[in-house]
This record gives sequence, structure tokens and C-alpha cells, in this order.
Amino acid sequence: MHMDLIIRNGTVIDGTKAPRYEADVAVQDGRIVAIGDLSGHTARQTIDAGGRIVAPGFIDSHTHDDTAVLSNPGMDFKVSQGVTTVVAGNCGISAAPLRRDMDLPMPLALVETTPEARFTTFAAYLAAMRASPSSVNVAAMVGHSTLRAVVMPDLDRPANAQEIAQMREMVEEAMQAGAIGLSTGTFYPPAAAATTEEIIEVGRPLTARKALYVTHMRDEGARVMESLEETFRIGRELDVPVVVSHHKAQGQPNFGRSKETLPLIRETMKHQCVSLDCYPYTAGSTMIRTDRGMLDGRVLIASSEPHPGMAGRDLDDIAKEWGVAKDEAARRLQPGSAIYFMMDESDVQRILAFDETMIGSDGIPVGEKPHPRLWGTFPRVLGHYSRDVGLFPLETAVWKMTGLTARNFGLAGRGTLKVGQAADIVVFDAATVRDAASYTHPTLPAEGIHAVIVNGALTWSDGVHQGARNGQVLTRSVPN
Ligand code: ZN
Ligand code: CU
Repeated sequence: MHMDLIIRNGTVIDGTKAPRYEADVAVQDGRIVAIGDLSGHTARQTIDAGGRIVAPGFIDSHTHDDTAVLSNPGMDFKVSQGVTTVVAGNCGISAAPLRRDMDLPMPLALVETTPEARFTTFAAYLAAMRASPSSVNVAAMVGHSTLRAVVMPDLDRPANAQEIAQMREMVEEAMQAGAIGLSTGTFYPPAAAATTEEIIEVGRPLTARKALYVTHMRDEGARVMESLEETFRIGRELDVPVVVSHHKAQGQPNFGRSKETLPLIRETMKHQCVSLDCYPYTAGSTMIRTDRGMLDGRVLIASSEPHPGMAGRDLDDIAKEWGVAKDEAARRLQPGSAIYFMMDESDVQRILAFDETMIGSDGIPVGEKPHPRLWGTFPRVLGHYSRDVGLFPLETAVWKMTGLTARNFGLAGRGTLKVGQAADIVVFDAATVRDAASYTHPTLPAEGIHAVIVNGALTWSDGVHQGARNGQVLTRSVPN
């Protein structure tokens, strides 16, 4: 048989946590068609894996790539890590629906769009991605904060009945178009005043489709347990699966509290569908904030609209230079984004090692000095945490970024390396894979990623983008 592509001499890690084995992998028409000894077969294109790992392409469970896939379709910061699918629309923020005549408050403006380029329906957004594919597959959610900003003249109060009805209609439109879920970010000003009841009522259209409820919770610090209970309650009332985004114990007084949160999550999993993700760093990144809790630790400025030259600098130094307090300096740098050192390494490791935790970057593709997670998340888990720290076997690391994620998000035909699956494949070197991106040099591509294939097309090879734009819009399929 003559194939499109054969990857020879690889060691397959199939994304199910099963032990690795040696095999060739053949691809035809964008699908995996054979795995085994294929020495009798020929192909138009051959990749010699040379004993490297051949795994399903990584799925980034938590991204803000909503508009980057359109404005920066090569998506180097993702494909260079072996990522072949991104889940967009997180933290209550989505690229659609928007009005052309509105200002985007932070953090909604992190998904930058010019008014002319805005999508007024979710269908229009998905159509644009289909018409102009990027190098990765996209599964998209609609964001509750975005809906609030579209519908409500003032955001510092709960929505009224009429506004809830309008938002619910927009969720219904997004679901019909192909959104896989609804995300919230009640941590952020545009949604902080939303009640639990508001979210439940806005989320009603999720129920019939068993679509996902995904949340950047109200409080990941002192009130993290209450926030988890609120999240689980919303999932129960809507009878849908929930995803706890970028789980953490935030702020020094809460260090160690993953010892409380993880047992609660595990217990709740016995009764309802719960999943969670995590990025492999002790610093987070979001809009520039001025509240004390956020400014307690070290803060690095990632981007600043009024002071672009401050990107990459320590807030402490900027404040000293300006002769003002830290919070005043932060105020002057707004709007922009910053990196906050606010987690304890032991919590990060405990959450990463929790068997049900998926890997999601939460990368923000804005500015010249982004959080290094944008370029480094997946190789950091494979190289640093799995190989060097020994937190879990490589098979488990791969599962946390492939099979587990595809299962939780309902991405049928993805996430495992099996005959019949879509040919999203990464070939990497287990001995050398490593994140090169650091806080000082955050945009360096990963090392040890040999080849990345998206829907059968070779997209990244030995450090060079091959030009393929073969990504698809993925929708959710729910197992019966
Ligand atoms: Zn978030
Ligand atoms: Cu996020």
C-alpha cells in the first residue's frame, strides 16, 4: 500500500497511559491508517523518528488563542511545543459575540480585536476560522464576561432578568454554531458581581447538549474551597461536566492548601463530572491589577499600553524609579498584563501530579515579554517535571496533554495514537525535550521537538515551520 506519510522507527506513546512500544506509523488522507512494522510499505513522505517518541499531538486545554489563530495563523508558539489543538474561550473571555460599537474592558481586551474585525455571532467566528484555517485545531467556548460586556451597560451589579434572557439566547446561538461550552471568570471585574444564580440561568442551553461549564473561579486564594463548591453546584444544577481552570492555591497565606482542594475534587468526582487543568509554573499572568493580594509577591510587567518600554521589568524597580508606591505604579501601567509570582512549588507539583489534572498553558499571546508558559508549557512538563523531577512517567505526562484532555472536552477522534484517529502527531526526543522559554527570554522555542503533524500535514520540523495551515474547528461529541 502507498501512503501519504510514514513515520519509521518510532517509540509510540499512545496517549492512554499504556506503556510505550516500537512501531512505524502510517498516515493517509489526514488519518492514522496503520501502526506496526510497515517496512513493506512505501509513502510519498517519510520521517525517520530514529527511536524518538511518537505521540498524539498535544491538546492545550486552556488558551487565549481566540483571535491569534486568525491574526497569527502560523501559531509558532504552540506548534513549536507539539501542540496541535487549542481550547479557546477561557476565563469568561471569547472573541464572539461582540458588538462593533463597544469598548472592551480588561481583561476582555487581552483577546485583541479591531472593531471592524469583530464577530457579532459565534457562527461568524467559527466560519472565519474555517475559511482561513490556522496551523492548529481549535475548539471554542463562549465567555460569560464577554456576554455581560455586550448586554449590560454597567458591569458592577448582577444581571437583571432581561439581560439574563439576552445572554442565554447568545449561549444558545453559540451552542448551535458549535461552541463546546461556556466559560466564566468571576475573579475578574467584568463578572465579579455576577451571582451563582445568574451563571446558572445564563448557562441553561448547556444542559440539553451536555456542553461544558469551565471556570476561572471567583477566588483561588482564601476562599478557594467555597469557590470549588460554587463551581460544583453550577455543574449539578445544569447537569453538565465542569472544568476547574488553572487550579492553584494563590497567595502565600494559602500555600499548601492543595492538600484540601484535591481531596474535595476527588470526592466530588465520585458524584459528578469534574475535571481540572494546571500550568507548570509558580507564577501566573493576567491583566495588570492594583489590589494588594496580587501585588504582594514579585510582579513582572508583560505588556503596558501607556508604557510599552516597561515590558519585562520588575514592578518594584519601576515604582522606585518613579518614586511611587507599587499600586500607584501598577495603576499608571494599566491597561496591560503582568506576571505574578503567587504560588508555591509544592502546590504546583501536587496539582500537576494529581491523576486527573490536564495540562493547559493559559498562555496569553500578547506583547513581547509574555509569561514563558506561552512557549514552554508542554516541553516543561515532559522535560522538567516528568524526566528531571520524576513527578510521573512520560506515559502519564503525555496522557495529561492528550487522551485525558480529549476525553474531558469531548474531542472525538483526537488525543490517542490509534488507527482511525485524526493524524495529529508529535515526534519528540525524550532525552532532550526541554522548555527554553524563561522569564527573561520568554519566546524561545522548545528544544527536542522533532516533528509536528496536524491532520496529516507536516507543520513543524526541526525548529522550522513548514507552512501548513491544516487546523480544523473541532466540536464536542458526547458519549452516550
Ligand atoms: Zn484564568
Ligand atoms: Cu485563562
